[in-house]
Amino acid sequence: MKKKVSVIGAGNVGASLAQMIVQSGICDVVLFDIADGIPQGKALDMSEACPLWGSSSSITGTNDYSHTAGSDVIVVTAGFPRKPGMSRDDLLNANAGVVSEVVENTSKLSPQAIIIAVTNPMDVMAQVSLKVSGFEPARVIGMGGILDSARFRTFVAGELSVSPEDVEALVCGGHGDLMVPMPRFTTVRGASITELLGKERIDALVERTRHGGAEIVALLKTGSAYYAPAAATYEMVEAIVLDKKRMLPCSAYLNGEYGGQGIYTGVPVILGGSGIEKIVELQLNEQEKNDFAKSVAAVRSLVEKLNL
Ligand code: APR
Repeated sequence: MKKKVSVIGAGNVGASLAQMIVQSGICDVVLFDIADGIPQGKALDMSEACPLWGSSSSITGTNDYSHTAGSDVIVVTAGFPRKPGMSRDDLLNANAGVVSEVVENTSKLSPQAIIIAVTNPMDVMAQVSLKVSGFEPARVIGMGGILDSARFRTFVAGELSVSPEDVEALVCGGHGDLMVPMPRFTTVRGASITELLGKERIDALVERTRHGGAEIVALLKTGSAYYAPAAATYEMVEAIVLDKKRMLPCSAYLNGEYGGQGIYTGVPVILGGSGIEKIVELQLNEQEKNDFAKSVAAVRSLVEKLNL
């Protein structure tokens, strides 16, 4: 039997993710939304694409939480996206309410599931999901670092005129304006970009990465990015469903690692069938440690506003 992934929120990110999963054929999908008809319509449309995609995955669109029961993975994309001029943090209160409701409803019906939080401000929403579900931290994970790293990879590839698939990058810290792109751990087929580019160019690419989401919000004007966020989330779903044990930057609950305590922040992890199988601790230099600590402090100040 195929594994079951429930995608909560059938908007731009949720529907794009559902499409990627169904097209891949790796598992079955339930697409849930509170909007009447939207998940049903999008699911029917995708199921009619399956013969063309050569996929035997099933997709069900629903407004009924009972259809999510027994999920292996629950992806939370429900909530409000940014508008121009807004930071991810401006979404805090509205989205905390939505995510609490979603996790309360889904976690009871799928007590063995792994939860992936995508809704922003993502690190805080992961913390909300942990609290509301009562799951162990290895099964509650946030999506941010893969997306931020993909943006960094794209910009580095453009700068060096190389294929983005040959660029590996690491972006740690919270998924916000203080995220920490790490040039030392960013390589083109093993060669660190600190060897390939001057400091000024690297600084410019780092800055563009930090504001990569806002750059798209300013262009779209009515919402935020969704193709790359969905593709980044797909990479996590695939790592879990296929037990790939990939090393990926994800938001994880830190319990002393990297100096963080009781807080979600982006770090490299090993992601497999049981969720976060390990947090990988790299040796950071002083600058990286300071930047990471500032980013963690920013996440913590938001968490404190919610009185979790
Ligand atoms: N329960 C279920 N679904 C909900 C709820 C709720 N309580 N509240 C809102 N939704 C649904 C909306 O009906 C909508 O279909 O969430 C969906 C959000 O879709 P979009 O508005 O298109 O937003 P999207 O671009 O998908 O972003 C969703 O992901 O990347 C983050 O910052 C982004 O927080 C935002 C989230």
